[in-house]
Amino acid sequence: MAQWKPNEELKLESRMMTRHCLGIAATGGGKSNFLNLILKQQMMRGGGAIHIDGKNSKEAIIEFLSLAKQHNRWQDVRIINIGDAAFSNTYNPLLRGDNDEVTSRIMMLLPDQGGSGAFFRSQAGRGMRAIAGILKSIDKPYNFGDLNVLMSNETAMRALLKEAPPTKEARDFKIFMDQMMAVNPRTGAKEMNTQKLQHTFGDLAGRLHSYYVGNAGKVLNPYNPEIDLYQAIRENLLVYVALPMLSKSEIAVDFAKFLISDLRTAIGQIQNDDYKPSPTFLCLMDEFSSYAMPSLAPVFEQARSSNICLFPFIQTYSSLTDKGNGLSDDFAAKIFGNTWNKISFLLQEPESCEVMSKVAGEMLKEVVSESFGENLSFQAGDDDASALRTGGRGRSFGKSISHKHDFIVRPEDFKNLNDGEAIFMGRGVVMKLQVPLVHLNVEDKEIDMPRFRMPFKQGLGIAERYHTFSG
Ligand SMILES: Nc1ncnc2c1ncn2[C@@H]1O[C@H](COP(=O)(O)OP(=O)(O)OP(=O)(O)O)[C@@H](O)[C@H]1O
Ligand SMILES: [Mg+2]
Repeated sequence: MAQWKPNEELKLESRMMTRHCLGIAATGGGKSNFLNLILKQQMMRGGGAIHIDGKNSKEAIIEFLSLAKQHNRWQDVRIINIGDAAFSNTYNPLLRGDNDEVTSRIMMLLPDQGGSGAFFRSQAGRGMRAIAGILKSIDKPYNFGDLNVLMSNETAMRALLKEAPPTKEARDFKIFMDQMMAVNPRTGAKEMNTQKLQHTFGDLAGRLHSYYVGNAGKVLNPYNPEIDLYQAIRENLLVYVALPMLSKSEIAVDFAKFLISDLRTAIGQIQNDDYKPSPTFLCLMDEFSSYAMPSLAPVFEQARSSNICLFPFIQTYSSLTDKGNGLSDDFAAKIFGNTWNKISFLLQEPESCEVMSKVAGEMLKEVVSESFGENLSFQAGDDDASALRTGGRGRSFGKSISHKHDFIVRPEDFKNLNDGEAIFMGRGVVMKLQVPLVHLNVEDKEIDMPRFRMPFKQGLGIAERYHTFSG
């Protein structure tokens, strides 16, 4: 079995690291090892990466740090771990993007389910847009807590209005507030109708609250966080994102969506700047289908032209078409179409095997058929029927070559891959790989990560001043 030897020549072709690559693997197929190999090479060549890991364990974080240490890149590591703030750098996914981007980032918390929910969703969306607009005009960093309070506290809303410059955004916000007011039948005064406010934002405010409290809250709310994805790409940093998918799946998935949406904004910015990371920046996205969203499809195009290479990893084909997650056949087709390379490890269920076999394609197989024939013809004798005389004898030989299509890799071949074996499918090339086993010399027992004391930055501070949370 091939093993990784530190001084041996690298086995993965460099073109794998410059094109988007879709990975598919059943559990235990050797995916983590493969990702470590990619990371190792990326670290060696001085490149940056974001690794979103669906398995959140202390060991995985220590491994990532060890790998970086081995390549003298420890100081470049940043960790986002919403499950344990003690082992996380800080990161605020609300700091980048225009009103529309921030609004759609927040609105991802309310899935678009059609029906009567659609009305409430659009109400909440309008409210959120009004808030995002006025916040932009104030131009101070804000956080999940600030948004939560602004969705539920009239005094906080008025304070915000007072602080804002007299722009169109402030007027729109005022209009929104007026819509939330009603005449109190007893006093005849116009006042904030809390019921209306709750109806408008209800669910959204509650969901934002979970990102302001606990471990996730500590990691995600600083106004001047240690990590900014745009800077991370520019500085070739190594960002490890631990998603607590098993213990806190809903929060983890929604957080991954915030992160991906922020990443999308950062990629847009990089593209605007006409900056291209060198070497190519890698985004390894484990458990991709659980936080993928339709708006991501065009990002593949954008990232490619900015030297940012995406590695979405999925477990099954059908997870990419999952309507319950807002995905579709169309989305799957786009992701397949936009990933130049595909790599498959051991697969288990039949549909994925078939899809991947189709991706690998068919080849023309020569089918040669030969026929050999002999014929004898007899002529009846005149006098003795038993004395057959051969009247004529002929022989023929025919060889025909026909071409028939056959799978290059048959569906069942994907079921029979061994440890570390993979099938790589690029444009015009299909090959079986034996991925070398990466030996991680993990010496540390505890997480030892770089941390930074960030200079103070004045933020909105609404949550601090008006903390009556609705949660
Ligand atoms: N390239 C390889 N060569 C030899 N053995 C390997 C290779 N890759 C993986 N293995 C073996 O398979 C086991 C599982 O590998 P790995 O952890 O990478 O799989 P995985 O797909 O990430 O699994 P999971 O779904 O549990 O995360 C490893 O512990 C190792 O023993
Ligand atoms: Mg794994």
